[in-house]
Formats: sequence, structure tokens, C-alpha cells
Amino acid sequence: MAEFITIAQIDAATDAVRARIHTQPEIALILGSGLGQLADSVENPTIIPTREIPHWPISTVPGHKGRLIIGQLEGKEVLVLQGRTHYYEGHSISQIGLPIRVMQRLGIKTLILTNASGGLNDDFRAGDLMLIKDHLALLPMAGENPLRGPNLDEFGPRFPVMSAVYNPELIQLAEETGASLGLTLKKGVYVCLSGPSFETPADCRFLKMVGVDAVGMSTVPEAIVAKHGGMNILGIATITNKIDPDGTNKATHEEVLEVGDRIAPNLMSLLRGVLRRL
Ligand code: HPA
Repeated sequence: MAEFITIAQIDAATDAVRARIHTQPEIALILGSGLGQLADSVENPTIIPTREIPHWPISTVPGHKGRLIIGQLEGKEVLVLQGRTHYYEGHSISQIGLPIRVMQRLGIKTLILTNASGGLNDDFRAGDLMLIKDHLALLPMAGENPLRGPNLDEFGPRFPVMSAVYNPELIQLAEETGASLGLTLKKGVYVCLSGPSFETPADCRFLKMVGVDAVGMSTVPEAIVAKHGGMNILGIATITNKIDPDGTNKATHEEVLEVGDRIAPNLMSLLRGVLRRL
């Protein structure tokens, strides 16, 4: 397995996508576990199974279909990734960034990241939506940064700034949209762990202590690569399970998918509202 993705791989993957689409997508959306059904609302869809794209990291998780859907939503040209790939599946952290590089090569400037996550904040309930105001880069702190390796200068600088990864204007737009729809949105800090094991009670107590509100296994590597390439990012975590105040996390993947199904309509209304206002 190659550790670092190259420009040649990014270009081969981008060419394969470009050859099949006739529109210029402006906004990309990545759908998290259990949220894939949202992709069915895309109008005039061109569907590309990601296994047909060279160098694309292949997703193997139930609930993750692995396809790109390109078309329109709320009058906007979108590219939706249904079925992201996670680090725990065995790809290098650099490879997890390849889909983002393809989006950047296609000229997409705005990225909406969604995920399923466990709620650490005691005010959160299963079924809540949380706007990500910042992330704790725990994997990168431990050396697993998707930008490690030769810098791809045509995308961004060697030492990119990571303040305001999640665009304050997009957060405000999402808050206004949520308010207009009568949706109560939480706001907080997200952390990505490698998974695939869920957290121990000690893990959860530690994460709470350092200011984390929601924990999951995605989003952060993608956000770092997106920010490096200058994208405007909105992150929305769906809280699919609540972690007990003592740190006990009894989540199962089935529960994550089931609650994801339940939250999907609210997330869809929020996403549609945000797209309308963009
Ligand atoms: N922990 C980590 N990842 C998750 C969780 C969780 O509790 N729920 C959904 N994804």
C-alpha cells in the first residue's frame, strides 16, 4: 500500500470522474453512516460507483454504498459522496484525503461534511444535530496527519493554518437555517478517533475533560485536506448515541444506522435549507 497519494493518482481519479459528468459541481457533500439515503434526492443524477475510480479508497462498511452522485439539489450543482472511506478500514491516512483532492481538482469550493457520532456533552441527546465549530486533531497529534509526506504545493502550503477550519459564515448560515425550520441545533467540538473499536469509559472521560462534545471516526482527516486546499467547510455531526455521564458507551453499529435513519429527515431539511441560501 502506497503511503502517500501523488498528483498522478489524483489526476487519474479526477479524469475518470470528469469523463462521466456534464455539469460543474459547486458544492460537495459527504454523507456519514446511516445518512446515505439523502443521496436519493439528487435530481438528474449521474452515479459513479467509487470502485470504478482509480486509486479511490474503497469503503467496506455496511451502510456505506461507495458512490458519487452528481446532479442538482435546491437548484445548486452538487456532488454527493455516499459512503465515505474510514481510516480503520486499513487505508493510509493520506489515501483518506484522495476524494477531497478530486473535489478540489474539479473546482469545488464548498464542502459539507456530515457524520454519525457519539454525544459526550451531557446536554446532548440521541437524534440531535451538532454544528462542528472546531475539531480536536487527536490522530494528527499522534502523527497520523493526512498532509504528512511530500507537500502538494499546487493545493496549498506546507504549513497550513488550522484556525477557523469550519467556516464561521457557514456556521451562522446553518444556525439561521435551523432557526427558520424550528430545528434546535447544538454546536461543539468533534474528535475523530481511529476506531474501529468504540471508546472505553476512560477514553470518554479523557475526551470530555479536554473539551470534546462529540466523538466519531471520520471528518477530521477530510477537513484538514479540505482546509489545506482552501475550501469553505461546514461540518454537521449527527448524534446517534448518547454516552453516559460516567463515560459508558454502549453504542452498536446497528443503533448508529437506525438512529441515523431517524435523524436523516431533519438533516435533509437542514442541508436543503443551507443549499437554498448558499
Ligand atoms: N463513538 C465513535 N464513533 C461513533 C459513535 C461513538 O459513540 N457513534 C457513531 N460513531
